[in-house]
Amino acid sequence: MDIKKRIEQLSTELLRHQHLYYVKAEPEISDLEYDRLFDELVELEKKYPQLAWPNSPTKRVGSDLDNTFPEKEHTLPVLSLDKQYTIEELEKWVSKTINNAGQALSFVVEEKIDGASIVLYYKNGSLESALTRGNGVVGNDVIENVRTIKQVPLVTGETSNFAVRSEIFIKKSDFGTYNQTFENKYANPRNLAAGSLRNIKSSVVAKVPLNIFSYEGFFETAFTNDHILILSRLKELGFRINRNMGFFSASKNMVATVQGKLPEIAAGHIGDLSDYVRERLGERNRLDYEIDGLVIKVNELDVRDGLGYTAHHPRWALAFKFDAPTAQTRLLDVQVQVGRNGRVTPVGILEPVKIAGSTVARATLHNQEYIDMLELGSGDTVSISKRGDIIPAVEKVIEKDPDHPSIFKFPETCPFCLSSLVKDGAHHFCKNRECPERIKRSISYFAAKDQMDIDTLGWKTIAFLFDKGYIKGIPDLYTFDYNELLNEEGFKEKKIANIKKSVENSKKKPFRKVLTSLGFDGLGTSAVSDLIKNGFYSMDRIIEAASRRDVEIFSNIEGFGEIMGQLVIRHFTDPENLALIEELRKIGLSFEERVEKPQEAEALTFKDQVWVITGSFEHFNPRSKAAEEIEKRGGKVVGSVSTRTTHVLVGASPGSKLDKAKKLDIPIIDETEFLKMLG
Ligand code: IVH
Repeated sequence: MDIKKRIEQLSTELLRHQHLYYVKAEPEISDLEYDRLFDELVELEKKYPQLAWPNSPTKRVGSDLDNTFPEKEHTLPVLSLDKQYTIEELEKWVSKTINNAGQALSFVVEEKIDGASIVLYYKNGSLESALTRGNGVVGNDVIENVRTIKQVPLVTGETSNFAVRSEIFIKKSDFGTYNQTFENKYANPRNLAAGSLRNIKSSVVAKVPLNIFSYEGFFETAFTNDHILILSRLKELGFRINRNMGFFSASKNMVATVQGKLPEIAAGHIGDLSDYVRERLGERNRLDYEIDGLVIKVNELDVRDGLGYTAHHPRWALAFKFDAPTAQTRLLDVQVQVGRNGRVTPVGILEPVKIAGSTVARATLHNQEYIDMLELGSGDTVSISKRGDIIPAVEKVIEKDPDHPSIFKFPETCPFCLSSLVKDGAHHFCKNRECPERIKRSISYFAAKDQMDIDTLGWKTIAFLFDKGYIKGIPDLYTFDYNELLNEEGFKEKKIANIKKSVENSKKKPFRKVLTSLGFDGLGTSAVSDLIKNGFYSMDRIIEAASRRDVEIFSNIEGFGEIMGQLVIRHFTDPENLALIEELRKIGLSFEERVEKPQEAEALTFKDQVWVITGSFEHFNPRSKAAEEIEKRGGKVVGSVSTRTTHVLVGASPGSKLDKAKKLDIPIIDETEFLKMLG
């Protein structure tokens, strides 16, 4: 036989057997037979080096020649991912993404492997280069070392050019042994994997049991609009795809397709995504490789293009990270803050430390129970974490202060007014409504950006005005003559003019802002919006209804209940609150919100009805539009089916809510019928 042919035959066969053995774990021939073929190829390549394939299976053993890692340009942008740390944020991201896309979407949930990132470039079916991430534009070609990883296909059946993003890692159980051979110089499996890829002798790398998972494919010739089908194709081509993966879609067809193509992965309705994420979180420690989170990706490639990129991240993917960034520092002191409603919160004052790019000097300590649980005292060395944008939290004590070990105890009295603190549930309260700190906090809350937005009056200025006796309460913000401040240091004419202007501007704020800015317990943005939606669109309407002291008037509002009903009555019958409200009325703040015309005009044809919506719709996308129509007509929309549900609106690919509705015999309305009902 012709030598060239034989080399080709042996190379192809050996690569196939390597794949069967190392990726599929289903060898077809004995080790002995394999070695015979391998040795034959080695011999032939030695004699006829010009005929050897650059991606010959013999390259797997590496070479003793010193490797160089030439810099090469990536032909695709190698971006990193935006991250979140809580399931709530993840859910927000999912619904925001669906909204931005303006269509029903499918999501793929993958493990975020904590290894070394690599991009494999294939030309004419053959591995051409293997670039590290580098700076995202230029990486190092470490192909000689990557060839030694038996799980990496060197030659594939795909002839159009393509690139594959993958992660190279070493198993936890292999880390100890192989770190020893490198004199334990690597701190963790990730560093050992990344270090191996940069080892100048590929013969050394060949002995390290490196693994690979591939997770993104870019084909010059497009053949699908689904990421999941790209993965399925990569699998066919011999790439190692992680089986711990989830596919969640509103489309039953897509779910079925995926179950057919990749039966080993979890596939379900989009509503099941969060539960899957929770489940994977629990499995993390059982894996023999390190993951630092999950990656949630939009499946539809055209939607990905539409969503695009920020300067750093794609908008179509999110890393859900398991561990928030942490740092170590010392707790210098615990200060006690008193809020506008009297709640006392301990705040940890920290030795400033950098965490996730910003300097942190304070941390919330929640309450006495939390402090007792941590056994925390001033002087202790602590670890702190930052999840999302929330204020950092003290996670644990690493070492007690060796000189003065202590546990912080709440004072018995309010540090600002000296009245006794009262414990209510987990929290302590200052019950004194005249407490200067509480008043300052409520004025500052009123003026805050999210409320009346008097941006010239920050906490410091308000505290100053109050302490000096210029203002005593919220109405004084409007009646005080700010010219009096000309004698005070730091108050020039320009500054005073700006204050006056922003105070005056705040008078234009709508009623709903006025109401929330009063800072009444329980009356945040969404509760106020519910009040207004339910006919309480003016201060007088609320006060009049409250004066009847009939809890049901308010507790019947969707989402309110008994406790909220009582709160509203308490706030709006309290003489001090009513006096404050009267003063603000005189000042001319908005006390009424005109409800939009169509809402008034709509007859309340859905009155007393309780609807649940499931699935996706042609005319109501996002489906909150359907909810609006129901609410406009006096109906309620709730999240889950119960015996109180009167109608279930069902669109395409409904979730388990439909089954429940059937079980409970609740009328099921489809989109056509719904449109008829709307008239
Ligand atoms: S997708 C543009 N999927 O995490 C999308 N990345 O910050 C690119 N990683 O550099 C990333 N497992 O090294 C993706 N299943 C996965 C991943 C994954 C690990 C790494 C990757 C990347 C970093 C993202």
